[in-house]
This record gives sequence, structure tokens and C-alpha cells, in this order.
Amino acid sequence: MALSSQISFVLFALLSPLILGLRIATSQQWIEHTPQPYAIRNFYKGSTAATLTSGGVANLAFDPKNFDLAANAETQGLKQYANHRNIRLIYIICEVAYRIVADKRKGISKLSDLKGKKIDTLQSSSASVFVHNMLPSAGVADNEYTTASGNVCMTEPCGSDTFPAQLKAGSIDAFGIWEPAVELGARELGVNAITFQTRTVHREVYALYSTTDALNNTSRRKDILEFVRALNKTLDVLANQPKEKGMYDYVSGLVGVDEKIFESVWADHAWTGQWGADLIEFLVEEDKYLAKMDKRSVVPSTDLEKFLDTSILDEL
Ligand SMILES: *[C@@H]1O[C@H](CO)[C@@H](O)[C@H](O)[C@H]1NC(C)=O
Ligand SMILES: *[C@@H]1O[C@H](CO)[C@@H](O)[C@H](O)[C@H]1NC(C)=O
Ligand SMILES: *[C@@H]1O[C@H](CO)[C@@H](O)[C@H](O)[C@H]1NC(C)=O
Repeated sequence: MALSSQISFVLFALLSPLILGLRIATSQQWIEHTPQPYAIRNFYKGSTAATLTSGGVANLAFDPKNFDLAANAETQGLKQYANHRNIRLIYIICEVAYRIVADKRKGISKLSDLKGKKIDTLQSSSASVFVHNMLPSAGVADNEYTTASGNVCMTEPCGSDTFPAQLKAGSIDAFGIWEPAVELGARELGVNAITFQTRTVHREVYALYSTTDALNNTSRRKDILEFVRALNKTLDVLANQPKEKGMYDYVSGLVGVDEKIFESVWADHAWTGQWGADLIEFLVEEDKYLAKMDKRSVVPSTDLEKFLDTSILDEL
């Protein structure tokens, strides 16, 4: 490391708490994250600046002093909560009904036809939980299909190691994941594509998390509340005025997705904010599955109830 970069590193380390203000960890690749930068740019009025850093709920688990908030699917939230009971789910940014796309030429015309087939997904992610929930709902047990794994493609052309290309080449029979990856797979197959989606069986719950450390600190809490207020205004725009406010263009531009393709998957995204009484049961079930996968004990449902913290929503 050159001396100048050492000096700037030290300066950065000294100044970062001042510069960074409210710190939010989130992956900036996916559609679901986009309300956050929009909220910061258009509505956030905290006492300090808000900064998005590439990451997720793991940053809250391992560095709760340096991160106030994080956004991730409920799957990553549950995985971290198992060992870090100071994490709290405080808001829901987006709920997404994922889809499975399959190749009709492989004799697939209904979900149960996926028995014995090879299905791509991303292991240890919300997508693998989705596939695990969908197949048994059609009477296909987890050991009655095989999974493979390729890479996610968010924009055409999709490389040969990605799900849509593998589907087209016939090396897999189906894949299930978030959008617009599934839409791109359907486009590759054209008339031979069939998709499956059951919102009641599974939806991704892409949430905002904080920690008891941050929520208990008066000044941090104030800015967290301001940020959630700004997010709530953004969700209103997304749900009610997406066209008028140029949201298709904004969101697709941020994640590098073709605007027309993005519009076609728009309806799969529900910008919900709060949650209903059914969420706890959904999390209890998912945690049982994740506990088995991660070879850990389940989180007691009384602890999962503490994970869901409505106190910020109550103050909005
Ligand atoms: C935060 O506050 C809550 C309720 O006031 C309390 O139960 C909890 O122990 C506190 N946590 C920390 C880390 O101070
Ligand atoms: C609360 O957070 C602020 C900002 O990070 C920090 O300067 C302050 O020391 C914290 N207060 C307590 C009591 O931890
Ligand atoms: C969030 O915004 C919507 C739309 O503006 C509003 O109806 C709702 O009451 C807000 N939510 C809360 C908890 O204030």
C-alpha cells in the first residue's frame, strides 16, 4: 500500500462516521433495493446524510456499530437472526412473487410435471427457499427433483453459464428465481416457455432491518425513522404513480435492466411497507427449513415474534 493511500485510508477511517451518517447495507444489483436511493434523493430529511453501502443484513450482524440499517430478503434476515438476536425486521420494502420457468418440450405442462427434472436455482438464497416451497405444493418432494446452479442474468445477452442460456440449451429443464431473470428465460424459449407462480405458497419478503443497538440510540433512531418515512413516500410513488414519476426508467436504469422487460415484470412486485398477521407463520415455516439446511436448531417462535418490530411503523 502506498503511503498516500495509507494516509487517505486513515483519514477515511477517522472521518467516516461523520461523512457517512446513517449507514445502510444493501446489494445494489436488484430491483428490490431501488426505493432506497430514490428515498434518499427525494425525501430523506435526517440530521445526517444517508449512505448506501454494498452488503446486506450480515453487516448488521457483524458490524452493528457501523451500520444502522440493511435490506435483504427474509431468507438472509432469518439466517442472521439465528445467531444474532439483536437484529430487527422493521419495514417491508417489497414482496415479490417469484416464478419458475420451464421448457414445455421436456413434457412439462403443470407444476407436478417437474418431478424428476433438473431445476436451477441459487443455493442458500430466497430463490432456493422458493423452489423448495413450490414443488411440495404440487406433491413433488424435495428428493424427487435435482437442483443445479448457474448464474443470474439480469440483462440480455445472457452468457452461456447463466440460467436462461442453460434452459435454452436444454441442459436444465426449469429454473426459479427473482425477476427479470425468469422473464429472460421465458424469452429465450419463446412459445416453448411455461411459467408457474403461486403467491400464496411463496413470495419474497424483501425487508429493512436494524438492530436493538441502533434503535435504542435516540439520535440513530431519529434518522432511522426519517429514512423509513422517506421510504414510505417512495413506496407510495411506486404503487400509485410509477409512470407519471418516471419510475420504470429510474429503476431499470439503476439496475441495468431493459425498460420494456422491466415493465413486463412490474406487476410481480408489491410495494407493501407493513405486514399482516400471516408473516410470523411464514417465517416460522421458513426458519424450520433453513435450520435443517444450515444444520442449526430452529429459532423459537417467541423469538421470531421479537424479530418483527413494529415500533418504527407505529411512529411513522
Ligand atoms: C433496547 O431497548 C429495549 C426496550 O427498551 C430493551 O428491551 C433492550 O434490552 C435494549 N437493548 C439494548 C441492546 O440496549
Ligand atoms: C448514539 O449514536 C451516536 C451516533 O452514532 C453516537 O455518537 C453516540 O455515542 C451514541 N450514543 C450512545 C449512548 O451510544
Ligand atoms: C405510508 O404511505 C401511505 C401512502 O402515502 C399511507 O397511506 C400510509 O398510511 C403510510 N404508512 C404509515 C404506516 O404511515
